Amino acid sequence: MTDKTIKKEWNLQNKYVLITGATSGIGLAAAKAFAARCANLGIIARNQSKAEEISTLLRMQTKKPMKIDIFIADLSSQRSIREVTAQILEKCPRIDVLVNNAGALYDTFQKTEEGVEMTWAVNHLAPFLLTSLLLDHLKESESARIINTASHGHKMIKKGFDFDNVNGEHLYKGMKKYLGGPTIRYAQTKLANILFTAELARRLEGSNITVFCFDPGLVATNFNQNNGLMAKSTMAVMNLFSRTPEKGADTLVWLAELKDTSNLNGQYFADRQQKAPTELATDKELARILWNMSEEQVQLSKI
Ligand SMILES: NC(=O)c1ccc[n+]([C@@H]2O[C@H](COP(=O)([O-])OP(=O)(O)OC[C@H]3O[C@@H](n4cnc5c(N)ncnc54)[C@H](OP(=O)(O)O)[C@@H]3O)[C@@H](O)[C@H]2O)c1
Repeated sequence: MTDKTIKKEWNLQNKYVLITGATSGIGLAAAKAFAARCANLGIIARNQSKAEEISTLLRMQTKKPMKIDIFIADLSSQRSIREVTAQILEKCPRIDVLVNNAGALYDTFQKTEEGVEMTWAVNHLAPFLLTSLLLDHLKESESARIINTASHGHKMIKKGFDFDNVNGEHLYKGMKKYLGGPTIRYAQTKLANILFTAELARRLEGSNITVFCFDPGLVATNFNQNNGLMAKSTMAVMNLFSRTPEKGADTLVWLAELKDTSNLNGQYFADRQQKAPTELATDKELARILWNMSEEQVQLSKI
């Protein structure tokens, strides 16, 4: 391959891809696809032995030698994210692709060590903080991209966020808990992923970094296995109608390899196409307010 052809293609070979949630489901399928393309991988996981198993599996699958780094962090903890970021900055000379994919739904009200509701902490604040702490490093890549796993679930939210009740505790109380309160909370975090993507893209305009988010569709994974027997049974039925993790990861991998990213910065995708999210998800003022609130929640100004 000549230098000219290499430049024309955004080839993932030898690029460094840092990914969260690669120990299961969509993230694992994406990691396999990246390994098959001979990208170097940084896996941020909370479970060391699971991450090591995945790393062995990926090495066996890949014929060419590739680098796989494991970084251990509980993404619900801002302290843990700060610690792991320091390790990443020390170990990785360059990051070309950051994939914020880890996510969960907690159907009981639980607080993190920083006093933040869990679903919000893992799904929104973790990508917000991790990305913010790695931005300067991403700027060192010739052409970097950030991909956030959002969801069609954002469509459930019609009125935005109640910024006076940032932890959304009322959604887990009384009848609200049984009328889908925790699912609404999850949907809020997925709306936040789309707003975060758009606002980050706006702030990075003119830089070397492109930001995308995508909906993987309904995917058969280990999602919602942490919420008891009823949730497990529901997911078992839903999984009959769901796509494979490989299909769920397809748009993610496609975005990571996209050659021409001009005019696509900050956009939402599904099935390899740019799609319009809800009107609320394109509300620039809401995105700005959410950004400011998130900065306060992770105490970004104190970094
Ligand atoms: N499945 C769907 O139908 C669907 C639809 C739309 C969007 N999504 C989104 O897709 C993403 C991936 O979900 P999935 O369906 O692939 O679910 P999954 O199989 O449960 O995978 C979730 C991943 O996130 C990791 N994770 C969760 N909490 C974490 C924490 N506190 N710290 C570190 N890692 C954590 C998990 O680690 P462990 O292996 O240690 O548990 C796992 O690797 C999520 O953002 C989800 O919202 C899924």
